[in-house]
Amino acid sequence: KRPPASIIFIFGGSGDLNYRKLSPALYNLFLDNYMPEKFAIAGIGRSSYDNGAYRDRLLDGIQKFSRRKGEQNGHWNDFSQHVTYLQMDAEDRAAYSAITDFVKAKEEEWGVHPNVIFYLSVAPQLMPAIAQKLGSLNLCSDKHSTRIVVEKPFGHDLQSAHELNELLLSMFSEEQIYRIDHYLGKETVQNLIALRFANALFEPLWNRNYIDHIQITASETVGLEGRGGYYENSGALRDMVQNHILQVMCLIAMEAPVSFDANEIRNKKVDVLNAIRKFTKDKIHENAVRGQYSAGWRKGQEAPGYREEKGVDPQSATETYAAVKFYVDNWRWQGVPFYVRTGKNMHQKATNITLQFRQPPHYAFPTESAETFRPNRLTISIQPEMDIRIRFQAKRPGQSMELDPVEMVFNFDRQYGDDHAPEAYETLLLDVMEGDATLFMRADQVEAAWKVVMPILETWASRTPVDFPNYPPDSWGPEDADAMIARDGHAWINLP
Ligand code: BG6
Repeated sequence: KRPPASIIFIFGGSGDLNYRKLSPALYNLFLDNYMPEKFAIAGIGRSSYDNGAYRDRLLDGIQKFSRRKGEQNGHWNDFSQHVTYLQMDAEDRAAYSAITDFVKAKEEEWGVHPNVIFYLSVAPQLMPAIAQKLGSLNLCSDKHSTRIVVEKPFGHDLQSAHELNELLLSMFSEEQIYRIDHYLGKETVQNLIALRFANALFEPLWNRNYIDHIQITASETVGLEGRGGYYENSGALRDMVQNHILQVMCLIAMEAPVSFDANEIRNKKVDVLNAIRKFTKDKIHENAVRGQYSAGWRKGQEAPGYREEKGVDPQSATETYAAVKFYVDNWRWQGVPFYVRTGKNMHQKATNITLQFRQPPHYAFPTESAETFRPNRLTISIQPEMDIRIRFQAKRPGQSMELDPVEMVFNFDRQYGDDHAPEAYETLLLDVMEGDATLFMRADQVEAAWKVVMPILETWASRTPVDFPNYPPDSWGPEDADAMIARDGHAWINLP
């Protein structure tokens, strides 16, 4: 079933996110027959393009970044007829009549009242002004079919996120607001719900009685990719932990939902955020480590340090790596540490989650075998590997009782082929057109997530790091992060 007729206005239509992600996603939806029978996409931006040049630019992005690069022939022509460019200054109220006119024209042409979707993919400082101007358009009072999609970052801290929520909620109702966290659109992230709640096997063990600790890693090999201006005011904690990592942690830690209702799932997730222990300032140094990459080498090439990147202050104190030990203070998770880490310019691009189980209560095997003994682990690889592995002990064939840790692996690509997975933005854009907000952030979730990271951000802001830069490119981050987890008798799990 296709979604109802829709018009998608993309603010930031000439920007990078649209070029790399949104347009390729919309085009893939079109190829898969998921776009509505009647649809229009209008890119809005200040740069000047005519429709032809704008379509060419989007095609260029698709050819470079789409998961289905080779499939433009024939279909692109059909798709591109639905794409328009509106050159306008989003800060000029009068210019918004172009939007109303556009909607009116489509309504007349199609003979139906379409969904009107405003996608805000703009610098955070522009968001309030745009939301305000959109809010005063008549068509935004239509709670049923007008929606606004807000890209991250959602605020710079708790206060600004709260203000943005207040502003949006004074113009739109919560059901109209779709706050994006693209990690929630990833297939392997959504599969966490299936793994946990469609199986009887794991859930009985999924608690403090059987789990020793949990690790979540989201390491990247890229550096700034020309985003110095944004990143310098953000840092790893704001850029990755406040949103993506905490959302993944919610899916790992939440209680079972009663139904798939958007609010039911979001209620269960926000319970986790509310239960995460808020550190007092004197505890931050024991539980959080920050890092910044130095100049060095990657694959035989010289790589610049963070402080040498374009748009970055040569004395910058912005962290490009963050590791935090969280506790979830509720019945299920009391005493189980969640170690999370993320960083730029690290050794490997990998997002994965590992649950390490407790030791068996009694070890009856010969003492020699203890050397090769390893505790059970369940590892869920989100990307780029997409698999789930269980580590357990097996008897090595032979006349003595010797044990080896072995693995059972489920691999998405092997099971479904390697073109099975829609990109996160495909799923999320389709959900917006269908009016399903399950995978989007509700106002209280965003604020609860900010409350988790605020004490760390404030403490870090008040103390200049003395050891920056403190990790080389192509490494696993600063030594202090290894020391933090080693104090608990553990080590970071780096998958091969
Ligand atoms: C974005 C961050 O939200 O997520 C980027 O702003 C980061 O800094 C990106 O690189 C990572 O996303 P993915 O899907 O590549 O893991």
